[in-house]
Amino acid sequence: MSKKSDSSDGIILRDHVYDGIEEYDQKLPNWWLFTLYITIVWFIFAWVAYYQMPLDMLSKPEKIDQQIAAIEAKKQAELEEMMASLTDESLVEMSQDESHIAAGEALFQTKCIACHGTDLSATMNGIALPGVPLNDAEWKYGAKPLEIMNIVTNGSPDITKGMIAWNTQLSPSEIAQVVSYILSKQPN
Ligand code: HEC
Repeated sequence: MSKKSDSSDGIILRDHVYDGIEEYDQKLPNWWLFTLYITIVWFIFAWVAYYQMPLDMLSKPEKIDQQIAAIEAKKQAELEEMMASLTDESLVEMSQDESHIAAGEALFQTKCIACHGTDLSATMNGIALPGVPLNDAEWKYGAKPLEIMNIVTNGSPDITKGMIAWNTQLSPSEIAQVVSYILSKQPN
């Protein structure tokens, strides 16, 4: 069978017949070709942008990691600055400020009473709790505000006792507040 042409609209029939089926030889529709060209252009752009640019034009996992590391470093620097600026005097001053005491009390009542008791006596209804009393002017690790701050921040040197390092759960300012609360409860 030879190629035949339909004179009215220029459609060409292809040369083969299979099981009596004939096939037109039509141009691909413009919308289809346009989509194809767009994907090719997009591929070139994306390939250059993602793999060939020296600048990090688009965010990559490493870039996000770097940003997180920078934030962590900044937080660490702020923490060190805050710890360096804290003194025994400033903690005592905080322990006279009602708003710090109230904030510290709220933290103490959620985080610390299981072992130190609601009244800091390390007892609950006459039963001894695992912690040590914090209202008896007796300090195993030092009575100075910064020493108290240190044990709460870094935990007991003897981890088996159960006094953990609270810096994993409380921010430095929260620890300062809880210490202010303890100081406000000292007998004097
Ligand atoms: C799981 C029980 C437990 C919890 C919860 C706990 N502590 Fe303790 N804490 C202890 C124990 C036990 C000791 C004594 C550690 C030692 O002897 O080495 C202690 C010691 C301390 C000391 C030092 C006392 C001293 O005599 O020098 C302070 C201050 C203190 N805790 C504050 C806190 C604060 C504040 C919280 C809440 C943020 C808290 N603790 C939560 C068990 C606990």
